[in-house]
Amino acid sequence: MTSGQRATPPAESAASCRVRSATADDLDAVVALHARCFPSPLPEAYLRRELVENPLTQYWVAETMASTTNEASEESPVEVSLLAPARSTTRSADEHGATVIGYLSTWWLVDEAHISAIAVYPAHRRRGTARALVAALIAEARRRNMVLVTLEVREGNTAALRLYRGLGLSLVGRRAGYYQDTGEDALILTLQLPVLASG
Ligand SMILES: CC(C)(COP(=O)(O)OP(=O)(O)OC[C@H]1O[C@@H](n2cnc3c(N)ncnc32)[C@H](O)[C@@H]1OP(=O)(O)O)[C@@H](O)C(=O)NCCC(=O)NCCS
Repeated sequence: MTSGQRATPPAESAASCRVRSATADDLDAVVALHARCFPSPLPEAYLRRELVENPLTQYWVAETMASTTNEASEESPVEVSLLAPARSTTRSADEHGATVIGYLSTWWLVDEAHISAIAVYPAHRRRGTARALVAALIAEARRRNMVLVTLEVREGNTAALRLYRGLGLSLVGRRAGYYQDTGEDALILTLQLPVLASG
């Protein structure tokens, strides 16, 4: 991923978290979040390839200030280490002790933005963090003239389904037995983006 592709400016969300494009410095935070929030953790090597090397992916992180991270620390001891001074100091929020509480990953597939994962630490849920992450993705997809946002979600994932439906995504299909760990079906949701006139 080139620096040009990660040029999305940071945005303040209604939930007083900050959403920004992720960098290689966020790998540990993304690995920890994924391990905490999903039943089948992905290997760090996979996430490193996705975050750092794959030019077709983009990750966003939502971060909040250290003073509000006690709950996150209780939920995940790994998060505590993210506050250590040794972590990157290239972003002003980090210099003030920001810590990552959520992330979203996307594959850019021709004219389609495919959301591959989204997660928020349990202690920080229901504060609009995921909504802010998806909104950042949709804004960037519009900026890139993508025509579609797509994703798969477990049929039983009520929280995610309500999140996506609330952001305008609609059910368009189903993949039977898609999730190998439980055999659960995946629902396919999409959001059609308006095609902007060029020039
Ligand atoms: C799904 C997930 C990312 C939502 O994160 P979040 O930051 O709590 O979501 P938000 O606060 O932005 O919620 C936005 C809306 O989604 C819906 N929603 C979120 N969590 C919900 C829940 N537990 N029950 C019902 N609706 C929920 C609500 O409509 C909510 O709006 P409201 O709070 O104004 O009612 C989070 O629960 C999570 O990390 N889950 C584990 C990982 C996962 O399942 N990821 C999705 C894979 S596709």
